[in-house]
Amino acid sequence: MQLTAEEEAMLAGKRGPAVAKAMEILVALGEIYGAKRLASVASVQVAGVSYGNLGQAGLDFLCEWADQGARVVVPTTLNPAGMDLQAWHEMGIPEVYARSQLEIIDAYRAMGVTTNCSCTPYLAGNLPKLGQHIAWSESSAVSYANSVLGARTNREGGPSALAAALTGRTPAYGLHLDHNRQAGLVVDVNCQLTSTADYSALGYIVGPKAKDKAPYFRFHGRPQPGLDELKALGAAMAASGAVALYHVEGITPEARCRHALPGGAATMAIASVEEGFRALDGNSQAIDLVWIGCPHASLAEIEHTVDQLRDRQLVAKLWVTAAREVLHTASARGLTARIEACGGRVVADACLVGAPLREMGITRMATNSAKAAFYLRTQQGVQVRFGTLAQCLDAAVQGKWLA
Ligand code: F3S
Repeated sequence: MQLTAEEEAMLAGKRGPAVAKAMEILVALGEIYGAKRLASVASVQVAGVSYGNLGQAGLDFLCEWADQGARVVVPTTLNPAGMDLQAWHEMGIPEVYARSQLEIIDAYRAMGVTTNCSCTPYLAGNLPKLGQHIAWSESSAVSYANSVLGARTNREGGPSALAAALTGRTPAYGLHLDHNRQAGLVVDVNCQLTSTADYSALGYIVGPKAKDKAPYFRFHGRPQPGLDELKALGAAMAASGAVALYHVEGITPEARCRHALPGGAATMAIASVEEGFRALDGNSQAIDLVWIGCPHASLAEIEHTVDQLRDRQLVAKLWVTAAREVLHTASARGLTARIEACGGRVVADACLVGAPLREMGITRMATNSAKAAFYLRTQQGVQVRFGTLAQCLDAAVQGKWLA
């Protein structure tokens, strides 16, 4: 791989041992994947934040790099943690978990990372431009950045993203290159989709069928998807498959480029998304907690939640997860207070897949996110109901899932 003089100097340790180690990681990765050079990145999003996923070994690794003087050189944000970093006590997070989680955040802060934690950094001030190279980690954020924004990123692991943040570089292979951004599967959606849960269910169906191909969607029903629907679609495909890029005819930026749809792509047609609902929905009647905001909710989604709550009092817990910046705007507009008046909360920084749910006594949940439903069941072992926002809010009001 061709390195510039500056990159050679970093590799030789001229900027300290942590940067040298970071360059070693990037060069090794580039050689494995046949990269010819490193690309400069405009921003980084680092996964490997929740204590539930990182554990003590991960915390020790981060502290070691921070102690060696490692500092990021491009704007860098974090994936969600396992709790709200400020309101963890109100969430019922055990103190021993919270202390370790906060140590992880301190280590990142010492490296110069912006420590607001979200899987929607693009809703919180980190908005890459069309064609920019970035190094992001979280699968739904990667999908959104590649597909909806037209930025370029592979799905980075925690160490490779941190290495990119310390050096400002990433190996130029995979989705950084034009020819890997072509669609390989045309998906004709012939049914009408009316909720973000519908798009989530669609993504859950298409993800495994796409395999390593980028899907090219043609939506033949009305209305066409907006940004929240695209966010849900991409998150679900990244969870059920490994889709990191998709195109939508007439909507996403690269669908207009010649490279997006080469001749000879396979096709599939979708007549209904019921299969997705059936696969994700469980059978628990009682509900402890309803989770909205996977990926983290936009302001519009918080507004819809308030509208559909209609000031009803809740029996089950309702948590709406969002980036802290979005929470601030929602608070300024009185939306957070409306949710709290019903007995719910808007929670910043957190992903409940990484939260200590069982220790908090939560075993039965409902969500309108296919990704949340999938990981809550497979990683947390909780019982999950999957449905529309209206169904989830009704469940929060009744404390049980209505048939
Ligand atoms: Fe975000 Fe966690 Fe969902 S990282 S996409 S809230 S599973």
